[in-house]
Formats: sequence, structure tokens, C-alpha cells
Amino acid sequence: MKIVVTYSSKQGLHEEFKKRFHHAREIPADFFAEGDSIETINSVMAAIRSGGHEVTGIEADDTASEKLDQIRPDLVFNVAEGLFGDFRESYIPLVCERLGLPYTGSDPLTLAICLNKARTKEILNYYSIPTPTFRVIHPYQKFDLSDFSFPAIVKPIAEGSSKGIFDDSVVDDPKQAKKKIEESIAKYNEPVMIEKFLDGDEFTVAIWGNGKDVEVLPIVAINYDDLPEGARHIYSYEAKWIWDTPEKPLEIFKCPAPLTYLQQRNIEDVVRDTYRVMTIRDWCRIDIRMDEQGIPHVLELNPLPGILPNPEDNSCFPKAARTKGYNYEAMVNKVIEFARTRYGI
Ligand SMILES: Nc1ncnc2c1ncn2[C@@H]1O[C@H](COP(=O)(O)OP(=O)(O)OP(=O)(O)O)[C@@H](O)[C@H]1O
Ligand SMILES: [Mg+2]
Repeated sequence: MKIVVTYSSKQGLHEEFKKRFHHAREIPADFFAEGDSIETINSVMAAIRSGGHEVTGIEADDTASEKLDQIRPDLVFNVAEGLFGDFRESYIPLVCERLGLPYTGSDPLTLAICLNKARTKEILNYYSIPTPTFRVIHPYQKFDLSDFSFPAIVKPIAEGSSKGIFDDSVVDDPKQAKKKIEESIAKYNEPVMIEKFLDGDEFTVAIWGNGKDVEVLPIVAINYDDLPEGARHIYSYEAKWIWDTPEKPLEIFKCPAPLTYLQQRNIEDVVRDTYRVMTIRDWCRIDIRMDEQGIPHVLELNPLPGILPNPEDNSCFPKAARTKGYNYEAMVNKVIEFARTRYGI
């Protein structure tokens, strides 16, 4: 097949940012947490080539639509998280819909909803899928948190890769919460969410396939013992991008997670239900945390899961796939197979 990989490289994001926000304030340090590295892009392209396909890469910028229309590939392998705005992850899928091109992964609606953690949780609530209690606070809105249960965590509603989730995002009382909420609104200029903090074990679960072929990959447990002393037990921006380095990697993940049969089944059930009600296609990573009673709660979904190629980079989707016997090439080609079957290509 002729396949195009669409991506948002760190370099591309930099250029787009300069072009659009030339008079912008200083770029926040965590702004580029989401961009793909050249290494990831090359690895995805090499994996697709190893599957016997012809492959081209396209940056998800202003010219992407025109280029896709010129090439008219048999399939678009989409990993582009886009540049800005609440619908950035929907950009390439929407272009593909417009051009009538098949693409991997979820549709624009699902990607947009999953990027909005609060909207996602509203849907999960509707289907009685457990997710921590929460409240959304809009810029300029007056709020009173005296009846909210603490500790809690404050996060921007539409970010990923732990942008906006720092060690000090966990708050113990309404006063601390107010300060953090105001700070977050000032920085990201978007609504914030305050959510009940669940102190139980945390897992991230890779799941892929469609219809009857949905498979939950081995569960990844997140272990906080290796975090610096006094750090909150969360997988924060610091834990993801500062404390974990290739030279001194944090021993933060365990896959397969040490779980009893029943615990594993409970998590898998919640993850499968979530995948279905959110109408995910092909693949996704779902973050889960246990409450005091050991009931798995959904924190959020990542329908464009990170896929850093180096095992030392601790990227969880590839890690789970590897544990199941799929190396990087096999993983990428399996996603292509899922999309192909779905479209009947
Ligand atoms: N309600 C909560 N209770 C306990 N811990 C939480 C809660 N919400 C978030 N966390 C912690 O913060 C981390 C980051 O939160 P979340 O997954 O919502 O952010 P993200 O930036 O979208 O992450 P990702 O990199 O997975 O896209 C979680 O992995 C978890 O450790
Ligand atoms: Mg997460």
C-alpha cells in the first residue's frame, strides 16, 4: 500500500508557533511536550516500510491537505497531535474525511472529546463508568469549593503529556485549590478541572482493535517508589520529562502489572467499556486509578497514544505491545491491519 504518516514534529510546532503567535508572550516550558521527535517519526516510517509498504511523511501544517490530495495514499497513518486549540488532534482526521482518505485511529469527534477531559468524564458518567468526581471552572467564573472533597487535583481540561500537571497540582484545601486554579487559568487561558484525588494504585492500559477484535494488552502498573522524596504520587510533568532521563531512568513502570486475576479482570472490563462508549477506533491508551475500595476509575483516554521507539523512553503503548510479543514494527503494522480491516481495504 501507499501510506502517508502525518505527524506534528517538535520542529514543525516551533515554526508554526512563530508564524502564528509572533507577538506572543514567552513560550511555556511545557508547550512542546506533545510534539513528535524526528526519531519517532523515522521509526514509524521505517516500521511501515518493513511491512512492505511505500511510505511518505507529512507535517500536519497548513500545506498538509494539499499534499495529501496530491499523493492520495491508500491509508494515512496519523500520529499528528496538531498545534493549537481544542480541536488540534482532529485536524488531520477532518482533512482525511474531507478528501475521502482512509486513516488510522479515531474520528475527529472522538479525538476532540477525548482531548477535553471534562466532556469525556460527562460521557463516562452517563454510562456509569467510574471516574473521579470533578468540577469545571471557567475563566472569570466565581467558585466555592467548600463542599468539595480534598485532597484534589487541579488540571487544565484540554492538555496531554502532563502539560499543566505538576507536582504542586495536588491540593489539600479550598485555599490552595483557589490559588492553583487561578494560576492554571492565567497560564493556559482555558477552563480548569478540579478532580477528587484518588490515592490508589495507578495503571495505564493499551487497548486496540475494533468490534469483536478488541484486545486489551498487558496492563502497565505505575510505581511511585522511585520518585524523589516528598514528591506527590502522581505521574506529573516533572516525573515524565524532568526526573526521568535516559541516563538515570526512573523505575516507574511494571508490565505486566502484578495483579490478581480478579483485579485484572475488573480493570479490563472498565477499559473495554470505556473504549466502546467513547467509540474509539484502532487503538488507545487509557489511564486508570483505583479508589479506596479498589474500584478502577478512568482518569482519561489517549486515542493518539505516544509511541516513542526506544524501550528506555518508557512509552507505555509500545511497552505493553512488547510484553505481548509485538515489537515496534509489528505494533505499527498491527494498527495498519486494524484500520485496513475496518475500511475493508
Ligand atoms: N483524580 C486523580 N487522582 C489521582 N491522580 C491523578 C488524578 N488525575 C490525574 N492524576 C495523576 O496525574 C497524572 C497525569 O494526569 P492525566 O493523565 O490526566 O494527564 P495527561 O497530561 O493527560 O497525561 P498523559 O501524558 O497520559 O496524556 C496521572 O497519570 C496521575 O498520576
Ligand atoms: Mg494521562
